[in-house]
Amino acid sequence: MKILLAEDDSQVRTELRELLVEQGYEVTTAIDGIDAFEKFRADEMIEILLLDIRMPRATGLQALDAIKKIESPKERVFEALFITGNSDSNAIISALKLGAFAFLFKPIVVEDLLKELSEATDSINQKHYRNFQNSIRNAKLEGTTPPKAAGSMTDGMGATSEIAAIGAEHYAPGIEQHVHRISEMALCVSVRLGLDPQQCQKIRLASLLHDIGKLGGPTDIYTAERTLTPEEFEKTKEHTRLGAALLEHYDDPIIEVAQNIALQHHENWDGSGYPAGLKGDEISIEAAIVHAVDTYDNLRSHRPYRAALPHHVAMEILVSGDEKSNPDHFHPGVLQALLSQHREIEAIYERYRPIDLGSESNLEASY
Ligand SMILES: [Fe+2]
Ligand SMILES: [Fe+2]
Repeated sequence: MKILLAEDDSQVRTELRELLVEQGYEVTTAIDGIDAFEKFRADEMIEILLLDIRMPRATGLQALDAIKKIESPKERVFEALFITGNSDSNAIISALKLGAFAFLFKPIVVEDLLKELSEATDSINQKHYRNFQNSIRNAKLEGTTPPKAAGSMTDGMGATSEIAAIGAEHYAPGIEQHVHRISEMALCVSVRLGLDPQQCQKIRLASLLHDIGKLGGPTDIYTAERTLTPEEFEKTKEHTRLGAALLEHYDDPIIEVAQNIALQHHENWDGSGYPAGLKGDEISIEAAIVHAVDTYDNLRSHRPYRAALPHHVAMEILVSGDEKSNPDHFHPGVLQALLSQHREIEAIYERYRPIDLGSESNLEASY
């Protein structure tokens, strides 16, 4: 995340800059309001504005006002935080009218600054995610290919993935809603991780097929309303290799990703997963994403041996583990992204709530 820090006091500017860089932010500095305006316009990577209010040539307020006049809010996502040396209520009211995200009063308390920046980062990511979803929705309504997802990805392939996922419903009731939730959650986490839009779109479509190997049966195990025997559980593990085998004959960039996901989405970061016991970066990022959201989704769903768990309990298990799960099972960056997007993840679960099947099947017997 790139920050534009506009502060006329060179000592404060240097200290803040060092602190932010230490925290992993990329920082560009400006010495006054006009400099801030010009630097923001020249660098599209800047997403957070940290503006001193009182500065020579133009104040922080004037800089933001000018930016708002030229930038269409739909096209550029950013948040503005103001630094002020006093509690000048007029300036604060003006800043609020301009859509200020937060205020920091001098002397700046480091914890407050970092907290506000992390909230601004969350807000920016959520805006990106919403924009991405809207662009997909609008493209569907207009019958066009979503922007930025053009090129090798066609509507046809998206539809094919979706049809295949819905087809699997016949063999494993309830799987349709499950794959749609996984697809949306995987997109949400991918966007949070900052993957490029084209890859995010590929992951969204490819993850619809993560459990496609279940078409290879044995269906009676997946639909059994009882706890599986150890032998039966071993059998369910085959859906990973079966899925990959089913997809390997297609020469298509989305299917390539789908094949990876199908094969590796039960691999654990610490090497304790299946089918190959891959470890760390041997597991593709797309499979690591699906693994984490799949585990969350399974915790939220009914199982013959336990009731569905509420959102906060599922999150707690992901973070602290239980007798089956361990935080070491997950890619650390993916787990962090999932946590920071947890409200959105919960909303997706609610949007595609499982249809009440009147039974508790073993859709994903691993949880
Ligand atoms: Fe699976
Ligand atoms: Fe699954």
